[in-house]
Amino acid sequence: MPDTGLRPDMSLPAIAPAGEVVVIGLGYVGRPLALEAAAAGFAVTGFDLSADAGRATQATWQDAGRKGGTLRTTADATALPPAATWLVCVPTPLDATGQPDLSAVAAAFATCRGRMPRGALACLVSTCQPGATNGLCRAALEQEGWRVGRDVFLAVSPERENPGDAQGGPRRIPRLLGAPDAASMARARAFWDRVTDTVVPVTTPEVAECAKLLENTYRLVNVALIDQLHAAFAALGVPTREVVAAAATKPFGFAPFWPGLGAGGHCIPIDPAYLQMEARRAGAPSRLLDLALAGNAARPGRVAAAIAEAFGGSLEGRRILVAGVTYKPDVADLRGAAPL
Ligand SMILES: NC(=O)c1ccc[n+]([C@@H]2O[C@H](COP(=O)([O-])OP(=O)(O)OC[C@H]3O[C@@H](n4cnc5c(N)ncnc54)[C@H](O)[C@@H]3O)[C@@H](O)[C@H]2O)c1
Repeated sequence: MPDTGLRPDMSLPAIAPAGEVVVIGLGYVGRPLALEAAAAGFAVTGFDLSADAGRATQATWQDAGRKGGTLRTTADATALPPAATWLVCVPTPLDATGQPDLSAVAAAFATCRGRMPRGALACLVSTCQPGATNGLCRAALEQEGWRVGRDVFLAVSPERENPGDAQGGPRRIPRLLGAPDAASMARARAFWDRVTDTVVPVTTPEVAECAKLLENTYRLVNVALIDQLHAAFAALGVPTREVVAAAATKPFGFAPFWPGLGAGGHCIPIDPAYLQMEARRAGAPSRLLDLALAGNAARPGRVAAAIAEAFGGSLEGRRILVAGVTYKPDVADLRGAAPL
């Protein structure tokens, strides 16, 4: 586990002040959560290694002119207050070999353990593999004799944020919540009930972790399916979009997916690899998921080849305008954009 140099501060108060929240990671997920918690009346401190992320968060808070609590940001972990609630919203990407990279989560939980007072709650919001909360996160908090459920509390509430959707947002989207013990669940519910309209408690952290991964795996597999069927329909001389639109008139049992450059963004092409890692470890990897991951990775190359074919076999010397580079409309996140 990365060593942040932080150590539990024994001079901190034994009971955390209830109104203070620290949000670690102020990106697409952490920023709206920090704003929502502040609007709900909490005194929020946003912590990000990038000072720019902190500045952008403060600017959004001021622009929104929302009343309620307070929001300040820092890039200095030693300046964090002894808050009652700590939300971990750091990235969970894949490394250069395509394997899940949990180093940011490990570092963030080390920061929590270094600063959080006895009685505080740490909640994992980042998308992780099943077992991360009860494994990596618990181990980080239980160093030096502290016990989860007794000295500190732990929960997982994977984010379902839908960037670009003005109707969504952390308050409106039902929030899954899992905890390893009843005391942690009670503590976490007390917080989330103030920040979101609907909390969906589940029996274990692993259920919450798997539910989030199932949601995104479902998307990936269906995107891969329609991209593959698009080739079949084209070979049959049938227009795919009309087929999907026709099927979508069925009022039950069908959700439309459209052919394209494949699934992009920070989540859909990545999260299923976290599920597959644990499924493989448990001796039950999904072959269908492997096919979907491989099909999705190959999709941009196939599209580029199809474009080249339309231009007589080569794109040499051609200037091509790609309209819509990110993975979805009205989102500036270039991560996972198809590398054509
Ligand atoms: N982007 C989405 O639409 C979305 C939706 C649902 C879930 N998620 C999940 O939420 C998590 C966060 O994703 P994101 O898109 O907000 O990522 P992001 O890259 O936009 O933001 C993460 C922020 O964390 C900061 N950071 C990294 N390590 C840190 C550390 N140790 N301490 C403090 N700050 C640190 C980074 O500087 C960055 O600003 C991921 O697990 C992702 O899979 C993302």
